Amino acid sequence: MEIFRTVAELRQWSRVERKQAQGTLGFVPTMGALHAGHASLIRAAAADCTNVAVSIFVNPTQFGPHEDYARYPRTLDADCALAEAHGAHVVFAPSVEEMYPAGAATFVDVEGLSERMDGQSRHGHFRGVATVVAKLLIAAEPDRAYFGQKDAAQVAVLRRMVADLRLSTEIVVCPIVREADGLALSSRNIYLSAAERAQALTLSRSLSKVEALAASGDRRADALIAAARRVFAAEPTIRIDYIELVDWATLKPVETAVPGTLFAVAAWVGATRLIDNTILG
Ligand code: PAF
Repeated sequence: MEIFRTVAELRQWSRVERKQAQGTLGFVPTMGALHAGHASLIRAAAADCTNVAVSIFVNPTQFGPHEDYARYPRTLDADCALAEAHGAHVVFAPSVEEMYPAGAATFVDVEGLSERMDGQSRHGHFRGVATVVAKLLIAAEPDRAYFGQKDAAQVAVLRRMVADLRLSTEIVVCPIVREADGLALSSRNIYLSAAERAQALTLSRSLSKVEALAASGDRRADALIAAARRVFAAEPTIRIDYIELVDWATLKPVETAVPGTLFAVAAWVGATRLIDNTILG
């Protein structure tokens, strides 16, 4: 497996593989600290495409000034081993200066969507995500890019961006990977103490409750949100950021769930902000 540090190397490799060798490219953008959730994206890309590239870049522009950019786990050697074991042919691990050259002044803002859900409490977060993913997709020109459903609002922002910029990449969304007890995998789970790890199960428990209620026929937003809030009430140390029932394309709240509606939660467990969601059937 090769490791590229520059956009020029990535672009050159991609062009040769796609044009001369007539291959297809699957791209998995990540911030590293890879876990089984990322592994599932890499495997999905390897199953669909002849070539797989994984980017590993802790993107400074998607972190707020008081967020965890400095302490975000950076584990490049282990990440490369995991990526290769699951089918990656290339890891792209650029520096900040490579992705944001001196004087960089161009950003991608997906208006409206960027201010909803996580964008409300993480101001500027989706602008940073859209900007770096646009740069990656323009550089690599992959046939498909793979993202986890866990970041469902991010998926909505990126789908809109790809459509608006007329990029040729297809966005593929892979299911949430969970621990046996239901906790959604996240690179930030390593921040949790043992007690917080137990409390964090409140997020997936609230979603199970909501899924059961919706399956029983009550699909009203206020009933579903109230049911989730009752589950959170059992863990008063957790601070809810949002509990929302939204249209997955627009991220606008809806009054009644229909098949495909997104029910999402975000909450602070100690100092760690976690997210989780379910797409109601
Ligand atoms: O989901 C992530 O890990 C990041 O937001 C992404 C898409 C790699 C952009 O930095």
